[in-house]
Amino acid sequence: MGKKIEVFRNGCRAAVDLPGSKSVTNRAMILAALTGGRARLEGALFSRDTLIMADCLSKLGCRVDLHEGERAVEIASGGAREFAPSADLFVGNAGTAARFVTAAAALRAGGVYSFDSDKAMYLRPMKGLFDSLRGQGSRFEFFGKPDCFPFKMFAGGLRGGEIRVDASASSQILSALLMAAPFAASPAEVRLEGETVSLPFVAMTLAQMGQFGLCARSLGGGRFSAEPAEPAGAATDGSRSYSVEPDATAASYFAMLAALAGGVVLLRRFGECRLQGDADFLRVLEEAGLAKLARVGGDMLVISSVPGGRARMRRHEFDFNAISDTFLTLAAAAPLLDSPVEICGIAHTRAQETDRIAAVSAELSKLGAAVREGEGSVRIAPPDPGELARMAAAAPVAIRTYEDHRIAMAFSIAGCVNLGSDCWIEIENPECVSKTWPDFFEALGRARADSEKFATVAVDGGAAVGKSSVSRECSKALGYMHVDTGAHYRTVAFGLLERGIGPSDVSAVEGVLGELKLGAVIEGGSARMTLNGELADDSLIRSRRVNENVAGFAALAQVRGFLKNYQRSMADFARRNGFGGLIMEGRDIGSVIFPDAGVKIFLDADEATRAARRAKEGISDSITKRDAMDRSRKTAPLVCAEGAVRIDTSHMTKEEVVAKTLSLILESQSR
Ligand code: DC
Repeated sequence: MGKKIEVFRNGCRAAVDLPGSKSVTNRAMILAALTGGRARLEGALFSRDTLIMADCLSKLGCRVDLHEGERAVEIASGGAREFAPSADLFVGNAGTAARFVTAAAALRAGGVYSFDSDKAMYLRPMKGLFDSLRGQGSRFEFFGKPDCFPFKMFAGGLRGGEIRVDASASSQILSALLMAAPFAASPAEVRLEGETVSLPFVAMTLAQMGQFGLCARSLGGGRFSAEPAEPAGAATDGSRSYSVEPDATAASYFAMLAALAGGVVLLRRFGECRLQGDADFLRVLEEAGLAKLARVGGDMLVISSVPGGRARMRRHEFDFNAISDTFLTLAAAAPLLDSPVEICGIAHTRAQETDRIAAVSAELSKLGAAVREGEGSVRIAPPDPGELARMAAAAPVAIRTYEDHRIAMAFSIAGCVNLGSDCWIEIENPECVSKTWPDFFEALGRARADSEKFATVAVDGGAAVGKSSVSRECSKALGYMHVDTGAHYRTVAFGLLERGIGPSDVSAVEGVLGELKLGAVIEGGSARMTLNGELADDSLIRSRRVNENVAGFAALAQVRGFLKNYQRSMADFARRNGFGGLIMEGRDIGSVIFPDAGVKIFLDADEATRAARRAKEGISDSITKRDAMDRSRKTAPLVCAEGAVRIDTSHMTKEEVVAKTLSLILESQSR
């Protein structure tokens, strides 16, 4: 059964928990097994590939305890030389397990191991690793094609000295040898013949070896030295705790979702991704002009540059060699971009889960894209938007996934873009995502549901704290309607002053309010108040006369009562006009107008900052006086409402305040 991908009807607003990194989890597991002692891996990924690794290690005699609810794996091992002398090992289609376990088991001199895998793995490159291990004393028997899975290994240990390796087909071959090298009988130097691919993964291997107390380093020129390991478990008191960082490749899907569907995505804990080259995919998105990025603490916000529009590209050619696991994320999005993209440096992906270049080309052609395949590149020209929309309206396009989790996830993201129908992409064999992210579709479903929740956001604070610019920016990014209630008081003040009524003339105010008919129009994402059918010009409601009198009018219970229902009606007005939510700024929004608002923000700044901002605002606005009146009045004074988050903006840039506010809104949406 295929999985029909429902579109995100009205942009995307979601906070996403990323799974643990597959690459880091599987390296940590093999390193824990090799170094010995006890290790607890926190934040580990539970997926097909990591369960395969866990299974192989337990067959090799390690004790592996899986605590899925806690996302923790505990491994107890006697170290590389204590592996079981024989085992039947099955690696599925996990490249990491295939290469890392083979090299690790080779360390057990005299061991005899049978290896089998999924059929897809029979085609994936292993020869470079076998050649190196043969050179070091192991022997192999192949049951299918020579130098391919399935096979039997007669382990001979590693002698050490110079270990030559051809890792041109996969950097995992080099990583596998590097992790085994410290356990060689004599000091080893791994020497790369030719080039390898996806270099950041080699750096990841070296860094994680260091974290497990092993020392290997690059000497340059493709040479790596490995110092002999301490005896098993000696580097620690016998137990270690290791934190697995979130999966940066997984982040690419939800980052692309924000870019394509319009809106904002919060990638929780993305800032902890330090070892993974694929974290750079976000920078590529930003450079291409598809999204803006903002760090908020350890999280990352991805803000679409083109909310709701067809994604416009600033860059067209991309070398994905270092981040090739993410090339499918961009390729699958290509039909939705405004110009062709060319991705190069990806020849090795033809020998991954499937021939990824051929597979993605075939599926993109179904979407009407013009695709040109090179040996190590692909150029994709988007179809005419009208043609794509017609195709989408006709029936969902069935995307074949070739047992490749990344094809499934990448095309699912494209399918979230609203082209007018409820669903235009169907993913065949969706369960293949379990290789690295079993909960992918649940995460996508949650993001979709959260994006459809209407949010009411209250932003309060005194004058010159940056409420307006922050509220406007956040509204624009989220596709929410913005309402400046200060303008309401100003408009009413203007109308009354025009009729010759001042704030002290309470009975006249009361008499005339009934004559004022309030309406609203939308202008650039903001709802603006009309008075008796007319929009009062900004220059009129921000005049010196209004500035001097508005706080006086705003202190009157009659005026506040008159505006309260109008302001509350703005939530419906936003809904009716198709906005995903409402951000209303003022003084009493969180306390009186929307005391149940999903998010309440109170912006504040210290006196010096406010003074500087006041100076900038010019002399025409009597801010200090107004603030004092707003705070001290009896009805709905300016206060930090109960449950509001106070943000002191004194030492923050506007961008920082916007990012912080967006993250608070997204976090509340996901509750
Ligand atoms: O935000 P502003 O400076 O344009 O607001 C003008 C005046 O309106 C301000 O002195 C306080 C008042 N006001 C209010 O009392 N309650 C609101 N919700 C918004 C503004």
